[in-house]
Amino acid sequence: MENKELINDINNNVNEYIRNIKESVDEKRALVITHGCQMNEHDSEKITWLLEKMGYSFVNEIDEADFIILNTCSVRHSAEDKVYGQLGNLKNLKSKKKNIKIAVCGCMMQRDESRNYVIEKFPNVDIIFGTNNIWKLPELLTASYNGTKLAMDIEENALSIDDKLGANRLYNFKSYVNIMYGCNNFCSYCIVPYTRGRETSRRPGEIIREIEDLARHGTKEVTLLGQNVNSYGKTLDEKFSFANLLEEINDIKGIERIRFMTSHPKDISDELIYSFKNLDKLCNFLHLPVQAGSSRVLKMMNRKYTREDYLRKIDKVKSLNPNIALSTDIMVGFPGESEEDFLDTLDLVKKVEYDTAFTFIYSVRENTPAANRTDQVPDKVKHDRFERLLDVLYPIQERKNKAFIGKDVDVLVEDISKKNESKVSGRTDEFKLVNFKGDKNDVGNIVKVRIKDANSFSLVGEKIES
Ligand code: 5AD
Ligand code: SF4
Repeated sequence: MENKELINDINNNVNEYIRNIKESVDEKRALVITHGCQMNEHDSEKITWLLEKMGYSFVNEIDEADFIILNTCSVRHSAEDKVYGQLGNLKNLKSKKKNIKIAVCGCMMQRDESRNYVIEKFPNVDIIFGTNNIWKLPELLTASYNGTKLAMDIEENALSIDDKLGANRLYNFKSYVNIMYGCNNFCSYCIVPYTRGRETSRRPGEIIREIEDLARHGTKEVTLLGQNVNSYGKTLDEKFSFANLLEEINDIKGIERIRFMTSHPKDISDELIYSFKNLDKLCNFLHLPVQAGSSRVLKMMNRKYTREDYLRKIDKVKSLNPNIALSTDIMVGFPGESEEDFLDTLDLVKKVEYDTAFTFIYSVRENTPAANRTDQVPDKVKHDRFERLLDVLYPIQERKNKAFIGKDVDVLVEDISKKNESKVSGRTDEFKLVNFKGDKNDVGNIVKVRIKDANSFSLVGEKIES
């Protein structure tokens, strides 16, 4: 999609750099490797949009690429290790292909420790940029082609002109839209406030305009992105809440489904809980990360709610929207978590009955408050708790999925199966994954499907011919 404002608005000479690469670089096949959350996935869509403007095409194999970009995540140690491993694998590439360029961007590059480690250990990296200055890519690439050994730029301020960039969206019928950046919560385990900066909301008018434009180009489903969407609007001059924003998006012609990620339980308002009831396009699905079921652990995590507060909010959500699907993030093995605390987590999972959950083993992140605690839980105990958590979660998920058997649901079809072209998959309003017999004409459409079977992870159905 064309974004006419970009080149007028964006710092005077981005356009010049784009043209320069387009005209002066011959071999232009790019590979963008994305780690982490939806926020990063969407950033990669902005990166590929810029690359396309510079004349790049895209490949899936490292050996075919002239430019490799690693968009990194630092939320867990393992995510960082994966990037170091990949950079290690790229080490000998330059002896085979002299002109290949390698860039590293994303959350890891916002952290001094990780960035310095990359600079020190991987001299094959040509370009480094952060999460707030994707728009600098053409300039950095030009500098690199002009002989700069390491072309690097990091921007601390989250209020960035990256907003003005278009995005080369993976699907044209469902789109991510940033509504805010950064996080002010400083949960004691989390690195995000240090990598993504302070919370900043985009102006409602800009968001609405972007979504209207997306709808005109075929988007049916929008997912609003922010680290804590419930506190949307706090940094705006005008009084405008997340629920107000949802109301306006609900009125946009062409948009059929609205989702959002992620919200913080302490900030979920009654106004938002009522939105699920009142707004027909807001999907029947709430992702509300609990992290732990013990008030003692929640306090140590600096989550600012208790187990009882959380359960009360969930009760309210359920009583107003009895069929809502619930999802969460849960972490085991936070420093100081006792067996009793962990049993509280299992108990909460049983009480809430989540439809799905992202589960994590606590990972030490340097320079966060929890990293300095001396009561770290031994690895074996963490892994054991993780397994026990899944043993409780999966049967609940299965039971909730099986309750769909015999029901007719609307599925937004997303993909054709790679193995069998007569099979397609998509999501229900409740974000349930459904597989059924269909064909490529179904992709991007909302199709009626009767559910025949289900397991812990997905549903199987049959298309109802209309
Ligand atoms: N260790 C393990 N999981 C973490 N998360 C955030 N920080 C850590 C950490 N240090 C999880 C939280 C968060 C999700 C995106 O990642 O559950 O909600
Ligand atoms: Fe996303 Fe957090 Fe990873 Fe950054 S650190 S990419 S915000 S999950």
